[in-house]
Amino acid sequence: MENIKSYIDTHKDRFITELIELLKLPSVSADPAFSQDVLNTAEAVKNALLEAGCEVAEVCETPGYPIVYGEKTIDTSLPTVLVYGHYDVQPPDPIELWDSPPFEPVIKETDIHPEGAIFARGACDDKGQMYMHVKALEMMVKTENLPCNVKFMIEGEEEVGSESLEWFVKNNREKLANGVILISDTGMIANDVPSITTGLRGLSYVEVEVTAANRDLHSGLYGGAVANPINVLTKMIAALHDENNHITIPGFYDKVEELAVEERKEMAKAPFSLEDYKATLDINDVYGEKGYSTNERNSIRPTLDVNGIWGGYTGEGAKTVIASKAHAKISMRLVPDQDWREITDLFQAHFESLAPSGVKVSVKPHHGGYPYVTPIDSVGYRAASKAYEATFGKTPIPQRSGGSIPIVSLFEKELKSKTILMGFGLNSDAIHSPNEHYGLWNYLKGIETIPYFYKYFTELSE
Ligand code: BES
Ligand code: MN
Ligand code: MN
Repeated sequence: MENIKSYIDTHKDRFITELIELLKLPSVSADPAFSQDVLNTAEAVKNALLEAGCEVAEVCETPGYPIVYGEKTIDTSLPTVLVYGHYDVQPPDPIELWDSPPFEPVIKETDIHPEGAIFARGACDDKGQMYMHVKALEMMVKTENLPCNVKFMIEGEEEVGSESLEWFVKNNREKLANGVILISDTGMIANDVPSITTGLRGLSYVEVEVTAANRDLHSGLYGGAVANPINVLTKMIAALHDENNHITIPGFYDKVEELAVEERKEMAKAPFSLEDYKATLDINDVYGEKGYSTNERNSIRPTLDVNGIWGGYTGEGAKTVIASKAHAKISMRLVPDQDWREITDLFQAHFESLAPSGVKVSVKPHHGGYPYVTPIDSVGYRAASKAYEATFGKTPIPQRSGGSIPIVSLFEKELKSKTILMGFGLNSDAIHSPNEHYGLWNYLKGIETIPYFYKYFTELSE
């Protein structure tokens, strides 16, 4: 494996320019205006897989955006690693808050990334992290270090709910058969504190609409006499949490797994500075469910958050009006063993019950997904842990994340294999935000670490 480092040194400039080219493609899955760009990105990923040494690479049609599949089989008696990632990205909005255009990547130094970071939409989530696997494959093939078989499955709808991937997985179980699933689409604690993500939260995402009168009304002529849907909606939303920030939906916590005191103590050992946390976000205090620490609130506890709210007059100046309708988008992050379909139903029943008789309420479910927890004694986890030891010189800390990759629990159900989440991003990389970036150090460190995972996974599987 010595030649790994020198291969990276020789080729790192090209690794970076190739990623920059990929980041120029605006593969925004949420917005149909970008559909041709999404398709072009799939094509680019397929070509990159062929270049990197896959014998087979194809753009597989689905009812939605295609899935790029690739493979290299060296010996069917050896284990197979299935790499999953996504080539779609979040919309860049609000575009005016970017310091440089989201699809014109630039490299800039930051305090956290003194070696420089690539600023572009998708730099970290997930093109940069996905492309580490493509370059790691190239390197293993070229330096004759590929110890097992590899398959790639890179989708284009992760940011909009992975609907087509569910269809693809259910229809291609044989083709996707594997010994372990490897994903880089999460983060780690810090560059000098490597960690492996052992949990992802589930999700239920709904949109609500409150309707009062059948038209907008003069707020002087009607104000005080009929329901104002915005007043009502905000009151209903406020009622979803109690004074301890517990969620008030009846039955919401029934299936929540309560962690043993011992396990919570173990979790609390991960390095974390509340002062730094507050300082980087410029907040005076944190806010959340009573009885839990910040790290617990954003990993092992479920949440309910308004993601957007609108209605009435928001233009220049003042307009005296009572709107006919008010709207909000609400997400609930879920933990084991909550079932997102059940939670969506509980939400709907409760939200409707909160409505006064003067309004009509509709709840429209969007997408959802199950939470996931991976054990730390599996062959895959142990291989990943050893890989980080080899390249970071430290044992990585297992840590549950608050984010969601809904398809992971489906992988386990349909493909019967464990997923290992080797993420190299940082919370400060601003994913989904303006000025998303990915450290060059992180990118190259990921490329360096991945081949060790293959090596140890193959050795430990024997
Ligand atoms: N890569 C993220 C999820 C993530 C990021 C997990 C960091 C852990 C750490 C993924 O692309 C994502 O954004 N997922 C969405 C859910 C999806 C259904 C839109 C999320 O978590 O909001
Ligand atoms: Mn992602
Ligand atoms: Mn994302």
